Amino acid sequence: YDKKVLKLKSKIQSFPDFPKPGILFWDIFSAISDGATCKLLQSLLVQTIKANYPDVEALVGLESRGFLFSFSLAAELGISSLPVRKKGKLPGEVVSYKYDLEYGSDILEIQKNVVRPGQKCLIVDDLIATGGSITAATTLLRSCGADVIGCLVVIELTSLRGRDNIPKGIPVHSLIQYD
Ligand code: PRP
Ligand code: MG
Repeated sequence: YDKKVLKLKSKIQSFPDFPKPGILFWDIFSAISDGATCKLLQSLLVQTIKANYPDVEALVGLESRGFLFSFSLAAELGISSLPVRKKGKLPGEVVSYKYDLEYGSDILEIQKNVVRPGQKCLIVDDLIATGGSITAATTLLRSCGADVIGCLVVIELTSLRGRDNIPKGIPVHSLIQYD
């Protein structure tokens, strides 16, 4: 790790047994309660995007913690910020995708016609665990004709092997990894 990433890592708190017993919760909000860390995190993400996705045209944030990054980064880069939300939250015509969870299922939505066919989209979120959310968002975006060029998260929980579940050919970038 470089110095900046280590600094960021030191600001992210974990909470055992939240939201359920046995789960260790990595809290992105603990890091961004501090202004200097906001700046540091933003600059690390911008640097990663410029180095790996110079042609990106849209940042797609996954509700809700992904929205922290899709807007702030899009504003800095001067590109589109698009939301993928849980069912029933977006007005107008939407495209939906239903996917299975460990128990039950969930539905993600995006507004129809916000994605241009072939538009180069980068999915952003705070964290990848199983990879289910990013995989579902990828399927949804592709069904709208988007070109999903990768995904970028702050935190990767490596022992869950989420990156192995992401569709082949979609690179996964994470700033910080935990077992
Ligand atoms: C968390 C996290 C990621 C997702 C990762 O979101 O913010 O979006 O889970 O898990 P996965 O890789 O197994 O899909 P959550 O659903 O808790 O909602 P929130 O962002 O609204 O807090
Ligand atoms: Mg989330």
